[in-house]
Amino acid sequence: MRSQGIKGPPYKFLYGSTKDIMNMKMDSTKNPMLEVSHNLFPRIQPDIYAWKKLYGNNFLAWYGPIPLLVVTDSKLMKEVFMEKAYARPKYLGPTKKLVGDGIIAAKGERWAKLRKLANQGLNGESLKGMIPAMVTSVEEMLERWRAHENNEIEVFEEFRVLASDIISRTAFRSSYLEAKRVFEILGNMTSIISKSQLKINLSIIGKLFKSRDDLELDKMEKEIKNIVSRLIKNREEKVKKGEANGFGSDYLGLLMEAHHDSDKTNNVTEEEMIDECKTLYIAGYETTRNFLTWTVLLLALHQEWQEKARKEVLELFGKNNPDPQAIGKMKTMTMVANESLRLYPPVDFVIREAESEVRLGDLVLPANTYLHLSSLVVHQNTQIWGEDAHLFKPDRFAEGVSKATNNNPAAFVPFGLGTRICAGLNFALAEAKVALSMILQRYALTLSPTYIHSPISRVTIQPQHGVQVILHPL
Ligand code: HEM
Repeated sequence: MRSQGIKGPPYKFLYGSTKDIMNMKMDSTKNPMLEVSHNLFPRIQPDIYAWKKLYGNNFLAWYGPIPLLVVTDSKLMKEVFMEKAYARPKYLGPTKKLVGDGIIAAKGERWAKLRKLANQGLNGESLKGMIPAMVTSVEEMLERWRAHENNEIEVFEEFRVLASDIISRTAFRSSYLEAKRVFEILGNMTSIISKSQLKINLSIIGKLFKSRDDLELDKMEKEIKNIVSRLIKNREEKVKKGEANGFGSDYLGLLMEAHHDSDKTNNVTEEEMIDECKTLYIAGYETTRNFLTWTVLLLALHQEWQEKARKEVLELFGKNNPDPQAIGKMKTMTMVANESLRLYPPVDFVIREAESEVRLGDLVLPANTYLHLSSLVVHQNTQIWGEDAHLFKPDRFAEGVSKATNNNPAAFVPFGLGTRICAGLNFALAEAKVALSMILQRYALTLSPTYIHSPISRVTIQPQHGVQVILHPL
């Protein structure tokens, strides 16, 4: 890599760059930000911020003993996202426990099969059919909010309950209470994993001796498996007993139908079903929760945009509940949502692996090089977005994403890009529009003086101390 002009921080025995990265991140986030600034890049990815200046746009760091090419040039990023030669890495680390062998890890035909089901279950008519369930979940949340009128409410916690309720209700039709244990476990697993994300577990040592965290994660993994298996068995029983005439039209029902499909190319195993359920919880819950939270913060900070968004909601739905047709017509809300995802992308980077030697731009990468693609870097790039890149200006998206990015698809990648682009992006946007519309119909929001601006990265970008707003009934 050096002979090709690629520089980077020196390799350190066993740990590579991970200890330095961890220390830099601990340092940059040890205190809240002095003002409510949206300039997250130096805080959330201080390593890339510093090393990009020292070593150039694309540089080599080390994920333990694995070479990691950090690509910040959007042209090269696009190439990595779009080309088949780059796959999700084989070594997903402890994250594997969260998503198992489901769609996130799948490749080739197995991925195509699972992706077809995800596309079918989370888009088009299926998605339209889920809007009433989303409305019900938001109604329940707003019922709780009545007790907080003219007072403060902490929305990060509120949206935890809402996002988990919506995914349970729409994808699994089980109530939040039934699924509660799964969320508790996944939440605990996520905090263990984000703590140990940068601890390098050398594979041989890791195989011989499991750490206390590993053992704990194994136990939790097993418990989730049991709960989801029970959920599946219950449905099968109901069909057998004639209490239901199908497995259901929700996502779990789709998976179960595929499980019983005699055509091998469509068939999904029980393991795959369980892993898909876990994946949906993981992929669809923390991300959307953060997206909603940051958008509420931005609307509370920018009253003029809150007013514009409310005007649109009242024009489209009046005081009625949002309906799928009108949701598709929301222009201001789409601009606000895009600007929120640009400044606070819940997923701040993705990793790829070159499976064999491959040419990237002018570079030749050896097999098994990892590539780091950061959405934060491109979203805050002043050459793409202008000197005001760190400011909240939804007007940038007035004429759509292509115009805003000057036809550079890799300039705005909150959901990734290419074939592995988020399978739930329409679901996430619909959920946010339903929830925000219903909130704005009922309340004016202002930021509470108790709010402390401290964005941190724990698998997703989160507000460390929550987001407190005051609810003013309309
Ligand atoms: C604002 C909310 C969300 C954000 C920011 C987000 C972000 C992402 C990103 C960046 C990826 C690509 C990762 C990569 O390229 O390696 C991804 C993949 C995925 N997301 Fe989302 N996501 C969101 C919501 C959802 C929801 C609600 C669901 C499901 C209900 C979902 C399901 C998935 C799945 C299944 C994949 C894997 C797709 C594949 O490998 O083919 N996501 N998401």
